[in-house]
Amino acid sequence: MYDLKGKAALVTGAGKKTGIGFAVAEKLAASGASVVIADLGGQPAQGGEVRTGTRAEMDAIAEDLAGRHGVRTLAVDLDVTSADSITAMMDRVREGFERVDVLVNNAGATFGVPNAVHTYDEAAWMKTIDVNLHGVFRVTRAVMPMMAGGPGSVVNVASRAGKVPPLFNGAYAVAKAGVIMMTKVMARELAGQGIRVNAVCPGQISTDLEAWRFDLEARFLGTTAEARKAEMVGTIPLGRMGAPAEVADVIVFLASDAASYMTGQAVNITGGQLMEL
Ligand code: NAI
Repeated sequence: MYDLKGKAALVTGAGKKTGIGFAVAEKLAASGASVVIADLGGQPAQGGEVRTGTRAEMDAIAEDLAGRHGVRTLAVDLDVTSADSITAMMDRVREGFERVDVLVNNAGATFGVPNAVHTYDEAAWMKTIDVNLHGVFRVTRAVMPMMAGGPGSVVNVASRAGKVPPLFNGAYAVAKAGVIMMTKVMARELAGQGIRVNAVCPGQISTDLEAWRFDLEARFLGTTAEARKAEMVGTIPLGRMGAPAEVADVIVFLASDAASYMTGQAVNITGGQLMEL
């Protein structure tokens, strides 16, 4: 457990109990940090196939974390593709908090898959890049004035797909690769202010997104979701899927002073599925 007492953290896409974002919010709160739970809430994404965080679930999460960990929480609507939504969120955050010490850019979604790049629907391509890449840019830009002068830590949730090309999920992969480079650029730009910027690259983690992906790939490949999952697990040296809490452990480490000499890194959390020099 890391000590984040007195710190304030903002986690995007944290409004669903099954997701990585919730697991991160839970561990941040357990480490003593106040947490802003930001998710789509009242404005579910158009065209998305994976369930999004609802207002009721976000409120329940905020109340639960505050009750169990004795920290301040705030559940606030956020669409990372909307500048107005980000402005409204920051107005709420400024009312409740003087600073933001930790930002976790976790919100993510894929549209228009499965598809090869050369046949991808243009609107779905743009939307996927908008959520996963430009969303990180917009939210980080909006939060930075509240982290100015540091110390602070930004953790971006990229993906193994940002390093190893997945099949027929090109916009997502391109966006996540962009997130990794944005992480490195920002790490250099902000180091002088004592703000560290890192990314994590999860592999196969058991969430709604991953279940949907196995189902989708199975239909595409003419097999079952169970068979597709077993095939993927067969490529993981540790021999199993990861849990959201196992990703959250690394994110909270990166957010904490225990990672005080780490910046500009893109840390793989893949059970050994991805090993690189
Ligand atoms: P999830 O689908 O369960 O959660 C994603 C969250 O983002 C949801 O709460 C959703 O409401 C929110 N969201 C979607 N669009 C949004 C928008 N426009 N504005 C604000 N919030 C929005 O997925 P999961 O698996 O928990 O994913 C979390 C992050 O981890 C994502 O960035 C994903 O790409 C990444 N990831 C997940 C992996 C996995 O195996 N599950 C592997 C690699 C990366």
